[in-house]
Amino acid sequence: MTDTVWMDTENNLLCFVDQTKLPGEYSVCSVCSADEIYSAIKRLAIRGAPAIGVAAAIGLYCVSVRFEDREPQGFLKSLKETAKMLDSARPTAVNLSWALARMQKTAERAANSDIEGIKSALKKEALDIYGEDILVCKKIGQNGLSLLKNGFGILTHCNAGALAAVRYGTALAPVYAGREKGWDFKVYADETRPLLQGARLTAYELCENGIDTTLICDNMAASLMQKGVIDAVLVGCDRVAANGDTANKIGTLGLAVLARNFSVPFYVCAPFSTIDFSCKSGEEIVIEQREWSEVTELFFSSRITHPDVKVYNPAFDVTPAEMISAFITEKGVFTPEELQRGL
Ligand code: MRU
Repeated sequence: MTDTVWMDTENNLLCFVDQTKLPGEYSVCSVCSADEIYSAIKRLAIRGAPAIGVAAAIGLYCVSVRFEDREPQGFLKSLKETAKMLDSARPTAVNLSWALARMQKTAERAANSDIEGIKSALKKEALDIYGEDILVCKKIGQNGLSLLKNGFGILTHCNAGALAAVRYGTALAPVYAGREKGWDFKVYADETRPLLQGARLTAYELCENGIDTTLICDNMAASLMQKGVIDAVLVGCDRVAANGDTANKIGTLGLAVLARNFSVPFYVCAPFSTIDFSCKSGEEIVIEQREWSEVTELFFSSRITHPDVKVYNPAFDVTPAEMISAFITEKGVFTPEELQRGL
């Protein structure tokens, strides 16, 4: 499996697969300016909470090696300004601010050495964040497998697979772990309107990896569950509040409601970096609102709606903790009640 984001360690560049071009074109970009990194995250060329976090860490390092500051204090100030700017690219995925905060703390700890010392500490931290993401996702895959059986029909939403992390992903990690054991899952990927991450990205990466994959329109999930072909729903998340309320791609809440109705287990795959213990409940989670044009024209040859229609285009919704069967993390499987008691 190839990486989605990585560092060109010789030239200090952030490299990534441009997800806006998939599945038609597999295009690798290399960038090193704050504007390019901000734009790649904002326009979803790099997307998915873990991938955004890793890209921000590598990106911040790559920008900082080019700072002209000669004194640690000036360097730290430039680092803080760049981190603040990158952090504003997307508000809901906590991994973005988590990774940027980790990088800044590393720089502050190294501030009593010279600029080169701070830069090498930042490089190491960015590579650690990248390497940890691979291990964490692999572990989520193994832990998730304990809840599944060979032959299960699995419904997933948006893309929380390899393309949303460095490798493996979160919600699709158990699917890949099962395949390594010779298990055959039947994965149903919903399209995920309006930006079609399910149709464009999940279907692409699952097919490329030889997984039995069926694409459905978003409004077909209820009928599939009614037929009894879905044994589990696996989704990723952008921010889990301390009480277990979970923000993920818009439409996740609807699937949780359906899963409860049809008694299908609903699992949220969550690296600890996505759990925000400072956020009490889903009410505190900022939901990103995106351009109306994503709904009215993005994937059409011309606008398909009346020019005066208003659009509601939230990128995420919040699933209440009580609708989640369990969180599958790198440290084990936890119920929302266990999370609320503090892990
Ligand atoms: O807007 P996107 O495509 O970044 O949204 C991504 C999701 O909602 C994913 O499910 C989430 O980030 C988890 S990715 C492992």
